Amino acid sequence: MASKKILLSGVKPTGRPHVGNYFGAMKQFVELQNEFESYIFIADLHALTTVQNKEELEENTAGVLLDYMAIGLDPKNVTIYKQSDVPQVAELAWIFNCLTTVPYLERAHAYKDAIANKKEPNVGLFDYPILMAADILIQDTDVVPVGQDQKQHVEIARDTAQKFNNAFGETFKLPDVLILDQVATVPGTDGRKMSKSYGNTIPLFATDEEIEKAVMSIVTDSKLPDEPKDPEKDNVFALHKLFTEGPEFAELRDRYEAGKIGYKESKEILIKNIKKVITPMRERRQALEEDKQAVLEVLKSGGKTARERAEKKMEEVRKLVGLKLY
Ligand code: TYM
Repeated sequence: MASKKILLSGVKPTGRPHVGNYFGAMKQFVELQNEFESYIFIADLHALTTVQNKEELEENTAGVLLDYMAIGLDPKNVTIYKQSDVPQVAELAWIFNCLTTVPYLERAHAYKDAIANKKEPNVGLFDYPILMAADILIQDTDVVPVGQDQKQHVEIARDTAQKFNNAFGETFKLPDVLILDQVATVPGTDGRKMSKSYGNTIPLFATDEEIEKAVMSIVTDSKLPDEPKDPEKDNVFALHKLFTEGPEFAELRDRYEAGKIGYKESKEILIKNIKKVITPMRERRQALEEDKQAVLEVLKSGGKTARERAEKKMEEVRKLVGLKLY
């Protein structure tokens, strides 16, 4: 049997994950864990670009680990690790830095946004895509499942692989991005992309009260219950696409178009269905939290596996570049 292709992706420990992270990326990690040889990590070095508080970073990192386990990643199938346990990634990023021009990175969206918003980005933010390229390329990744907002970063990883291969000889695979159309950009409660920085999220492990509050805050137009509505233009319906299934979903669409449902009722149905998805995951997370120490062992052992693979790759790279004299 041919060996499995390699899948790699990560989440930044910058706070509670939301349903956009879940549907856009994390759910694919779970669904593909048997089909691929999977490496799923916690991007703590990337988080340092915004989180500069020891307790917060430690807590968030342990939190993402619990999240991964609670959504159903099985450490028997998946190497789960934290980025900083693979210091070779930072070493490789430096080598890539020396092949990358400043104008090239100035075209990256996240940096351009920071400049457009008159923020003064740190060098870490500027170099973010190169660290990400190192994460991906050091493990010989074939496929990177992410949301739409990370597409450019995977393209930068491909470009970087090519630059290295041209300069030093065929070394890195060119990774493919995996983005599911329907969930490429999950909208938040205000219709914009769901994002912690917009304050429009539904947390993935939300309590019942948080779910109710978030859904009730979804922005709608002022159409009355008996007015026909275009479901494609409604922020509540956009979330039904993720949480409401089968005949109930078809019926909802019909009722929207026929002017037979008001936003309040639509929100109540959405709350019921979000609870159905979130409650079992939240309960699993609570159970895992009871034995945090055992869960942390997963990270230690995954770190060792990921580091050993990365070190092998780096030995090859050091030789090619001229850093290895003995
Ligand atoms: P992070 O933590 O910001 O996001 C984690 C994943 O969630 C996706 N996502 C969304 N998808 C759909 N709709 C949304 N509203 C939405 N919001 C977020 C993101 O696209 C992402 O897939 N840079 C990465 C972390 C990283 C990484 C890597 C990923 C570091 N190195 C190497 C893959 C490979 C990030 O943005 O994480």
